[in-house]
Amino acid sequence: MKHYRMSVLEERGYVVLGRDGTVIDPGEWQRLEYVDWKSSGDTRFAPLASAYGGIDCNAFWHCDPPKPDKDGVWIDAQVAVAPTISALAREAGANVGRVRIIELQPNSYADALYNSHLDDNNRLNPAGEGWVVRGFRNLTDDADSCMVLREDVRDPATETRIALPAGARIIVDSQRMWHSVWHAGPEPRYCLITSYESGPELEKWIFENDPTTDVEGAPLDGAFARASEAEAQERRDRRTAFYGYDPTNVLSEA
Ligand SMILES: [Fe+2]
Repeated sequence: MKHYRMSVLEERGYVVLGRDGTVIDPGEWQRLEYVDWKSSGDTRFAPLASAYGGIDCNAFWHCDPPKPDKDGVWIDAQVAVAPTISALAREAGANVGRVRIIELQPNSYADALYNSHLDDNNRLNPAGEGWVVRGFRNLTDDADSCMVLREDVRDPATETRIALPAGARIIVDSQRMWHSVWHAGPEPRYCLITSYESGPELEKWIFENDPTTDVEGAPLDGAFARASEAEAQERRDRRTAFYGYDPTNVLSEA
């Protein structure tokens, strides 16, 4: 038996929702407790829901007892600091796993391509249950930054860049789509990331929120794109040679 997958993600592996206009006090993400957790660049994470309610970002299958990235337990102390953001993650009415806020320092397009990876969302997820996907809701207003998605990490023709103003919302099958963020800066970017179980509730919520895949960002200067591509792929090749394998082919636990 296969996992339940939502038809809305079938064609492109992602869908962009209408911008969310909820006003959030920046203190909600600024006052949270963060833990250092390396993922796709210079990052920290503030968990809102974890495997068993502790302030940690560990993958659920490393916890005791291990479980899939579902049935996350809300962390009372963090929810008390960020009630509006927590409500956004609950709004879909879907089962959530890890819920956290990522803080990402500024980087370059080449860095983003170098950092691009696939997520390990469905380890221990029983067949027949909903395929776990990720929701991203940008908190800071980073209209000049973008999420970089690729079907094939080596093929720029498969790339989609999605701008990240405050309230930008993207649902991604991040175990299928290579992804990372090119963050222009100069301040850190903050974004809510929610692991959602695919199901009728999530699908209904997506359809109620103006889903589209017609979002291609501004074209890049050709010479810049080629130079960044060459730099990123050369760095990826050096990393692969160093490890003896491409570590981004091993699904990311972050
Ligand atoms: Fe990821």
